[in-house]
Amino acid sequence: MTRKEFFARVGFGAATVLLPACIAGLATSCSSDDSGTSGSGSSIPAATGNFTVDTSTGPLATNGGFIVMKGIIIARTTTGTFLAVSSSCTHEGVTLGYEKSGNVFVCPRHNSQFTSTGTVISGPAPSNLKQYQTTLSGTTLTVIV
Ligand code: FES
Repeated sequence: MTRKEFFARVGFGAATVLLPACIAGLATSCSSDDSGTSGSGSSIPAATGNFTVDTSTGPLATNGGFIVMKGIIIARTTTGTFLAVSSSCTHEGVTLGYEKSGNVFVCPRHNSQFTSTGTVISGPAPSNLKQYQTTLSGTTLTVIV
């Protein structure tokens, strides 16, 4: 086998293995942003200034949906108001989720729960989340950092 043939086979083999993983969202290096809904929050870059989100598409277009952007979890309640708090659990930094039925933020690792304004309901999280104010203009939501 020539060197060229070897690399052709290895390259094809790697693509065969990695492509389905990327499609399934299992390879984190394939992700282009941090708008996912769960996972470790330790590598999410924090917001350094106000930013906007289009609420006409994606999870925020629906009551009960939420996204994580720039270290902040933004949720749309079942009544259509928007919430924004820091997305990292104050226990070990895991990215939080939002449970629309209870209007609470929940940590998937050890089940800490926070109110809609970020106050700890149950631990082991030792402290509250930071709450951010938002303003809505049309379908553009501004998160004030
Ligand atoms: S990491 Fe969130 S409760 Fe432990």
